[in-house]
Amino acid sequence: MFSKALWASALVATTQAVTVKVASSGGNATSPYQYGIMFEDINNSGDGGVYAELIQNRAFQGNTIDPSNLNYWNALGGADLKLRNLSKPLSSALPTSMQLSAGNGNTRSSTIGFSNVGFWGFPVVSSWEYKGSFYVYGSLDTNITVCLTSLSNEAYAEAHVEVKSTSSEWTQYHYTFQPTIDAPNSNATLNFTFPVSDLSSPVNFNLLSLFPPTYKSRENGLRVDLMEAMSDLKPKFFRAPGGNNVEGNSAPYWWNWTETIGPLTNRPGFPGTWGYENTNGLGLIEYMLWAEDLKMEPVLAVWSGFWLSGQAVPEDELKTYVNSALDELEFLMGDVSTKWGAYRESLGYGPFQINFVEVGNEDSLNGGAPTYAAYRFNAFYDAIKAAYPHMTIIASFYDVDGATPPFDAAGDFHEYAIPNQMAKQFGKFDNYTSEHPLLLGEYAVIEYNQPHTTGPQWTPGAPRAFTPFWYGSCAEAIFLLGAERNSDKIIGASYAPGFQNFNRWEWIPDLIEFDAYPGHTTLSTSYHMIKLLAGTLITENLPMTISDGGFGPAFFVAGRNSVTGSHIVKAVNYNSTGSTQFSFSFEGVGKGATGNLTYLTAPMNASNPIGGNVVQSHGSSVTASHDGVFHFKLPEYSIAVLEIGAESAGEGYNYSDPGKRQGWKGWKSWGGPLGHHGN
Ligand SMILES: *[C@@H]1O[C@H](CO)[C@@H](O)[C@H](O)[C@H]1NC(C)=O
Ligand SMILES: *[C@@H]1O[C@H](CO)[C@@H](O)[C@H](O)[C@H]1NC(C)=O
Ligand SMILES: *[C@@H]1O[C@H](CO)[C@@H](O)[C@H](O)[C@H]1NC(C)=O
Ligand SMILES: *[C@@H]1O[C@H](CO)[C@@H](O)[C@H](O)[C@H]1NC(C)=O
Ligand SMILES: *[C@@H]1O[C@H](CO)[C@@H](O)[C@H](O)[C@H]1NC(C)=O
Ligand SMILES: *[C@@H]1O[C@H](CO)[C@@H](O)[C@H](O)[C@H]1NC(C)=O
Ligand SMILES: *[C@@H]1O[C@H](CO)[C@@H](O)[C@H](O)[C@H]1NC(C)=O
Ligand SMILES: *[C@@H]1O[C@H](CO)[C@@H](O)[C@H](O)[C@H]1NC(C)=O
Ligand SMILES: *[C@@H]1O[C@H](CO)[C@@H](O)[C@H](O)[C@H]1NC(C)=O
Ligand SMILES: *[C@@H]1O[C@H](CO)[C@@H](O)[C@H](O)[C@H]1NC(C)=O
Ligand SMILES: *[C@@H]1O[C@H](CO)[C@@H](O)[C@H](O)[C@H]1NC(C)=O
Ligand SMILES: *[C@@H]1O[C@H](CO)[C@@H](O)[C@H](O)[C@H]1NC(C)=O
Repeated sequence: MFSKALWASALVATTQAVTVKVASSGGNATSPYQYGIMFEDINNSGDGGVYAELIQNRAFQGNTIDPSNLNYWNALGGADLKLRNLSKPLSSALPTSMQLSAGNGNTRSSTIGFSNVGFWGFPVVSSWEYKGSFYVYGSLDTNITVCLTSLSNEAYAEAHVEVKSTSSEWTQYHYTFQPTIDAPNSNATLNFTFPVSDLSSPVNFNLLSLFPPTYKSRENGLRVDLMEAMSDLKPKFFRAPGGNNVEGNSAPYWWNWTETIGPLTNRPGFPGTWGYENTNGLGLIEYMLWAEDLKMEPVLAVWSGFWLSGQAVPEDELKTYVNSALDELEFLMGDVSTKWGAYRESLGYGPFQINFVEVGNEDSLNGGAPTYAAYRFNAFYDAIKAAYPHMTIIASFYDVDGATPPFDAAGDFHEYAIPNQMAKQFGKFDNYTSEHPLLLGEYAVIEYNQPHTTGPQWTPGAPRAFTPFWYGSCAEAIFLLGAERNSDKIIGASYAPGFQNFNRWEWIPDLIEFDAYPGHTTLSTSYHMIKLLAGTLITENLPMTISDGGFGPAFFVAGRNSVTGSHIVKAVNYNSTGSTQFSFSFEGVGKGATGNLTYLTAPMNASNPIGGNVVQSHGSSVTASHDGVFHFKLPEYSIAVLEIGAESAGEGYNYSDPGKRQGWKGWKSWGGPLGHHGN
């Protein structure tokens, strides 16, 4: 009441006070997955993004929605470039290739070839060794020069590839090169040229690829700076693939996992739901390795028989797709005695472990809810649960205030909001039960507060923030603390979308934005907020008694980490018109104990500029007073973590057995009528 009164009287320039006592018993164990990553290929977050391939339209993939084309390729030296479906294609999945011929004889140059513009340029970094390859078909005996070239025709890096190809088969050639300098921008093209005198008949090219070094040096791997940025968030789960991108825009295209595995020549591509062809170079195995490399628990999205166009697979035809999901799980988890497990082993991968499966994505939208409720969800649930009793099955929507998922399923709740609307949801999950745990699979503040609006304006052309902005990030932090205080029943939260290439800019804001130039990678204000909150995990929430102040404008949680023995407070000071003075004491933590306070600030309405950061981190040490109270002050629009390490808890430090806490039950034993218990 006290702080609310002050808050209402904005004329008082002020410090509000919050006094809290934290008990050492009676709390709840929390989910070990509280902060994670959600990924779908949107606005070139996959191709041209996390997936490190640098050549755009490398295999002329297409279909009836996105027909094959020669976009991003240019002819050099008077060459004539054409798409061809040869009677001998590179593979049945890649039937279309690029044919080069000498054109109508008016060749003015001594060399001929083609260039690729990349994903709006190429990164040029002198310490990187790049690895390339391409396939040729047709009679050609020459040296092809592959050159990473500046716009002023300066050669940054060059390879000479001896080609002796014939018209009896497709031959693959490999090359490597290392730039001589770090280019100050990504204005470069990749040029393939050879003496025109060596060309006697048309020659064909396909699957032209170039990779920079990848995260953990994986072949067909992921972009290092983006993976490192993710790794710094200490993400605990990975919801993929999608988002809308798993659904497909219209029949017959959906994210059919079998078309995303095996050699790249087996992957036909997919008309992604966000307006561009996906190569499927980033496929199911790549997602699993991504999760493994960042030590994240996969939350695997399987297709639920519904296209974004609103079309659902009828009940009597659904079995094929349910079986496909079961095959997918067998592919990931089965041993060599199973058909799909054996195929995975043949690709060189041991089994993966899947504990969470989400059935579809946002099936409540576009008219999906009736069929989802009537038969789609149940069909997948029954089949998967029968085969894998230990699994937590997640329904793709969850109206917290209305329908709950059936059986013992979890639900996925998404929230896109404006700041004040987000901040009001601190208590949203308080009345929730652990019968149906909740995934906050997508959330973000997407627009500024505006007079007379209570939520985002979804109409086309409505204002959006370019990148996340600080008071929006503070509001998200309040929402996340609301999840943390209920994290005995909330699996975890993931910001969405996670990534975007600046050159394919529409869904804004995104957590991390980038383009081909490494110096442009932009970690948003929300990124820094999540990094702080996720960096210190509370394994047990502890009961708080608030004797002064209350929630709003300051919001906070308290708890302990039973691995490190730390006591932890996380707090956000929102629109307070002043700072907030906190006085926190922990039962059993006595006088003279010291804690580390870290808090983030930024100008209220600031967004990170391209490649820059407006968020400031402040660190200090706080020592408990003679009566064991930690006093600290947080300015308006700040986000803080106070951590009192076990070693410095001081006199009287004690914490009772964390194993005895109620709360998070883990994926093995959710309650509910059909609850099974794995082993
Ligand atoms: C190649 O075949 C596909 C599928 O039949 C067709 O859509 C496309 O137009 C063909 N492309 C060319 C260049 O013939
Ligand atoms: C290609 O280059 C190699 C070595 O640089 C040379 O020996 C060979 O003769 C060249 N081949 C052609 C067809 O020019
Ligand atoms: C070169 O790159 C910079 C930075 O990415 C960009 O602003 C500029 O427009 C580019 N110049 C040309 C000529 O494309
Ligand atoms: C490389 O390709 C670009 C883009 O097509 C072209 O403008 C440039 O002249 C080429 N440079 C060389 C040396 O072939
Ligand atoms: C998925 O794709 C594969 C390979 O193209 C195809 O054989 C299979 O029928 C598709 N699955 C379904 C359920 O349509
Ligand atoms: C402060 O935030 C709350 C939401 O927590 C909102 O209702 C209120 O309008 C905001 N006040 C101001 C002055 O922006
Ligand atoms: C939770 O339940 C209490 C008691 O019924 C009620 O007062 C409160 O409004 C509920 N909170 C939410 C967020 O629904
Ligand atoms: C980004 O994706 C959106 C959503 O599909 C699309 O409308 C937009 O054209 C894309 N942006 C650009 C610049 O291509
Ligand atoms: C523990 O969970 C119970 C049941 O959800 C809840 O009433 C209580 O407030 C929680 N305690 C803490 C400290 O989070
Ligand atoms: C924040 O910045 C945006 C974009 O410049 C502007 O539209 C908005 O009015 C600003 N809001 C506040 C509270 O300053
Ligand atoms: C607090 O900071 C000090 C100095 O940086 C460090 O040695 C100590 O480990 C930190 N304690 C905790 C609990 O993070
Ligand atoms: C710690 O606290 C528990 C519960 O209050 C108590 O039973 C136990 O004796 C205490 N342990 C120590 C070492 O003080």
